[in-house]
Amino acid sequence: MSSSFKGKDLYTCQEWTVEELDTVFELARDLKLKFRTGQTTDILKNKTLFMFFFASSTRTRNSFEAAMTQLGGHAHYLAPRMMRIGDAGAPEAVKDTVGVLDRYGHAIAIRCYFPNYGEGDRLIREYGKWSKVPVISMESDVYHPCQALADMLTIKEKIPKPEGKKYVQAWGYSPDALRVAAVPTSNVLLMPRYGMDVVYARPPEFTLAPEIIEQAKANAKLYGGSFTETTDLEEAADGADVVYMRSHCTLNRHVHGDVEEQAIIDKYSDWTCTAELMERTNKRSLFMHCLPADRGHEVTSEVMDGPHSVVFDEAENRLHVQKAVLSLVV
Ligand code: CP
Repeated sequence: MSSSFKGKDLYTCQEWTVEELDTVFELARDLKLKFRTGQTTDILKNKTLFMFFFASSTRTRNSFEAAMTQLGGHAHYLAPRMMRIGDAGAPEAVKDTVGVLDRYGHAIAIRCYFPNYGEGDRLIREYGKWSKVPVISMESDVYHPCQALADMLTIKEKIPKPEGKKYVQAWGYSPDALRVAAVPTSNVLLMPRYGMDVVYARPPEFTLAPEIIEQAKANAKLYGGSFTETTDLEEAADGADVVYMRSHCTLNRHVHGDVEEQAIIDKYSDWTCTAELMERTNKRSLFMHCLPADRGHEVTSEVMDGPHSVVFDEAENRLHVQKAVLSLVV
């Protein structure tokens, strides 16, 4: 294990080289095998991870907690509203909170997103600025690096040579979810770095930030993949090797507010991944979703529970890639 990883922050996969990411995947595979064969790993014996959750979670919280336990350490679940940093009158400064916790433990992980695009990402980086121990993003309003790592590991397991394969990142209809675009953003950046032909399919209003689109194109150019956009979901699905559905909000949600956002979302109630849509894809294609999925809206249960679906493999791989990252950086 290279010591160059020690103390490294993870805000986005984009800030890690492909060689570094490959080390994560290699180690994740090894840890997965050990987990499945009952071999104990105490790489992080007596080490502590502090997890700040400004937002709710099922997979992220439980996979990080399980990861630390299985590596011989421990994770603290922290609800910021119950901490001094969440005090209404005079909240403790990030610098002071971090300055205490990095004396007690070995890593800090944070999930936060706010209505203004970029604010959560900035806050996570502020923790990193003051922390003497590594900081890991557990999802901001811009990036979800651990999900992207789990998704790439899943693709590599199912499609040994992902280069030149068609990966469709598709917006999906979900009436109740005003979700941030951290997963689509992270994945359209990462998949071209593994030579995949990425198609981002979304209704006209649901673009990603211009700098993300430019970076995805640059990644494709550098690594031999491609990046294109379409507003035609069926055309995108034609011959696809991977269909990844995920609802997300527009970039202007914080400007025009939730009522107008809802009206825009409801125009596209037919953006669902159905068995008919999957019939347009390659025979052995994968259906992917980071979960939680909105069954009956983003995707039908027939697809979620059908032969193309690898959604639980993705969820499981969160555990293994996070164990790999923690083992490397702590
Ligand atoms: N995919 C994911 O991050 O799930 P949670 O929101 O449940 O953590």
